[in-house]
Amino acid sequence: MSDPTRPPAVGVLDQGPAITFPPGFLWGAATAAYQIEGAATAGGRTPSIWDTFSHTEGRTVGGHTGDVACDHFHRMPDDVRLMAELGLKSYRFSVSWPRVQPGGSGAANAEGLDFYQRLVDELLGHGIEPWLTLYHWDLPQPLEDAGGWPARDTAARFADYAQLVADALGDRVRYWTTLNEPWCSAFLGYGSGAHAPGRTDGADAVRAGHHLMLGHGLAVQALRASRPDAQLGITVNLYPVTPATDAPADADAARRIDALANRFFLDPVLRGSYPADLQADLASVTDFGHVRDGDLEIISTPLDLVGVNYYSRHVVAAPVEGEQPEAYWRAPTCWPGSEDVRFVTRGVPVTDMDWEIDAPGLVETLERVHRDYTDLPLYVTENGSAFVDTVVDGQVDDTDRLAYFDSHLRAAHAAIGAGVPLRGYFAWSLMDNFEWAWGYTKRFGMVYVDYDSQVRIPKSSARWYAEVIRRNGLAAQ
Ligand code: FCB
Repeated sequence: MSDPTRPPAVGVLDQGPAITFPPGFLWGAATAAYQIEGAATAGGRTPSIWDTFSHTEGRTVGGHTGDVACDHFHRMPDDVRLMAELGLKSYRFSVSWPRVQPGGSGAANAEGLDFYQRLVDELLGHGIEPWLTLYHWDLPQPLEDAGGWPARDTAARFADYAQLVADALGDRVRYWTTLNEPWCSAFLGYGSGAHAPGRTDGADAVRAGHHLMLGHGLAVQALRASRPDAQLGITVNLYPVTPATDAPADADAARRIDALANRFFLDPVLRGSYPADLQADLASVTDFGHVRDGDLEIISTPLDLVGVNYYSRHVVAAPVEGEQPEAYWRAPTCWPGSEDVRFVTRGVPVTDMDWEIDAPGLVETLERVHRDYTDLPLYVTENGSAFVDTVVDGQVDDTDRLAYFDSHLRAAHAAIGAGVPLRGYFAWSLMDNFEWAWGYTKRFGMVYVDYDSQVRIPKSSARWYAEVIRRNGLAAQ
């Protein structure tokens, strides 16, 4: 609920003019397999690292797991009908690796693939463009047992899996992203341990990041060879990193966090090199001996698009003796070699994740990728907000979330006006779902999910978004 006594969030406009997006702008919504599918043991699916992690005591809030989630696996046709009612032009989903290749190696599981074949057919039947993400964090557990992403072989396994999905769906899926947010897989999964598999070793996190990107490059090569007409990309989560003051020490803290959060991935993928300052900052953590000749050529295999997930900004300051950074991504172990950098809160409105609302940061982020890295088409593959929702008379009036979308879409439009080739926008998320370590306690959906009954209730933001799509833009406020 909006609180009129609160100051406005950064970039939330009280008055906005009507704006129109370019013709053909791809309006979508996103989800991920483990967050919505449930059916954890159906049709030959075996555990991923997220099954193991969520079933381990103390890892997720309330011990929540994705065993049932939104039961999308069984309700998929109804969910696609709902997408069509909202007028979505595209739907970004991820394929569950352990569903289609249980164990992470060997032959495909026909029953698992069948689900995605039906999903894609259902989408196409409703005129919705399928946008497939190969890896949204659910590594098959046996691959973790063999070393996980810090082990080089996992990259090769990922390319094999990509080939198997391409063989099954490549004739009908045009848009492919390999990885979703490799920063989270590497640095939350192997650094801070807040995400599966919950390991806490800085050097492993850096190695994981490299092997994720190597897997990405190998997968792009495999997909390109078998589907030359496909649109291939990667999704990275990017943050503007701003120094808290203009003191040189704060600027240096911002440089370090920017290197770890953003340039760690952007430089290898789009320039074929690691930033020199990043390597220097990480000298006490790793000597980068895991990087072999030829890896960076593979990692920088040309793409057709770049997906950007945007949620917030990092404001950072130089270390102060004795002060401890806060939780989640602020946990020090997310930032190997720069553990002592402080993450500062500015007192602007935050979402239910405590993430500062900062729409201008989206403009900055998109402009930076375009200016410093690439002319490729960009897509916002995720953007959204968690707020506490209440059902009143069967309705959910989520004005805060609606305002978040509104301000960020105005930012997206401003980026286009500044020359950024932004071609589409995916709201996170289509529906409330399993928010990783937060379980079901954080709601990001445009559609409310009652987890007891599995009833779906489109919130005000969903109805508003349908209207945005219908008019290909925003009405004046
Ligand atoms: C992103 C993830 C997505 C969801 C949102 C809130 O980091 O890609 O699965 O959890 O955050």
